[in-house]
Amino acid sequence: MSQPTYAAQQTAARGPGILVVTGGTDGIGRALAERRLGLGDTVVIIGRAREKGEAFLAHAREIGAADRARLLRADLGLVAENRRVLDELRGAFPVIDTLVFCARHYRSDRAETAEGVEETFAHFYLSRYLLGHGLADALGRSAHPVVVNVAGPGAGLDVIRWDDLEFRDGYHGGAALGQAGKLNDLLGVVSAERYADAGLRYVLVHPGATVTSLSGQYDEATRRHIEEMQRTAKPLAQALEPIAAVVDRPPRQPLSAFVEGRELDVRTGDFDAAAARRLDEVTEVVLKKVPA
Ligand SMILES: NC(=O)c1ccc[n+]([C@@H]2O[C@H](COP(=O)([O-])OP(=O)(O)OC[C@H]3O[C@@H](n4cnc5c(N)ncnc54)[C@H](OP(=O)(O)O)[C@@H]3O)[C@@H](O)[C@H]2O)c1
Repeated sequence: MSQPTYAAQQTAARGPGILVVTGGTDGIGRALAERRLGLGDTVVIIGRAREKGEAFLAHAREIGAADRARLLRADLGLVAENRRVLDELRGAFPVIDTLVFCARHYRSDRAETAEGVEETFAHFYLSRYLLGHGLADALGRSAHPVVVNVAGPGAGLDVIRWDDLEFRDGYHGGAALGQAGKLNDLLGVVSAERYADAGLRYVLVHPGATVTSLSGQYDEATRRHIEEMQRTAKPLAQALEPIAAVVDRPPRQPLSAFVEGRELDVRTGDFDAAAARRLDEVTEVVLKKVPA
């Protein structure tokens, strides 16, 4: 039997609000930021590259929306930077309606941040953990809060290396990214449970292989694969469509997951609540080790 379609689950369209998008300087995040800016949202994009951020602000000026566009430059791999971003967002926006996670950077070689955390784990999971929980109060003040975590939902729990989450042994860029995607599924499980009373909808989204900047530092073999992807993957506009749809009309249930617009069943063991709570505890231990 086919999976239920998204169209059957959606709520009413939301009006303009405050949208924060990490990785909003490029790719899917940037396309979503521009789209929602055009629909009247106040949009904060977060990324590292000044030029790309400035290009978004120039676009905002062109469409007469300069007063609704903000750029926050930050390296989200650093816990301290996430905390600075949280302070700035909380200071500027008591209410946040939509939080979208799109920051991602591939590394063929293992690297650690200046704070001593493996880089993929740090920016692709830990940042989303810090920002999602850290902005829960601001989201809770929205009439229709939604978090959209764009990663790769649906893998099995066996991709998680519980005794080596930071890949100290046998690092592989794809495996590190795949594991972090799974950790985001579990982050969604905990968040949906914890903030359901505040009306939060947590939506996990896999866009499928898409032509974007595919930010990363690649070895030769992976670079060839990426070049092939840039020729054959789906266009950005096509990947954006189902993501824009969940932002416009969030699903009714507290937690949902979609792969290329097709809904997954989040009641399966892949979204196990005990594993999610275990990860929550382990994450707090990791954070305690990061120097303040
Ligand atoms: N494209 C695909 O085929 C594909 C497939 C599956 C899932 N996804 C998911 O879709 C989402 C968007 O991917 P995309 O391909 O559209 O992205 P992309 O074009 O590769 O752009 C990545 C974005 O992340 C930002 N970023 C990377 N590292 C960062 C850091 N340490 N701190 C702050 N910002 C950082 C980049 O900003 P700066 O350059 O300004 O730092 C850029 O805005 C990601 O979550 C990805 O996992 C994509």
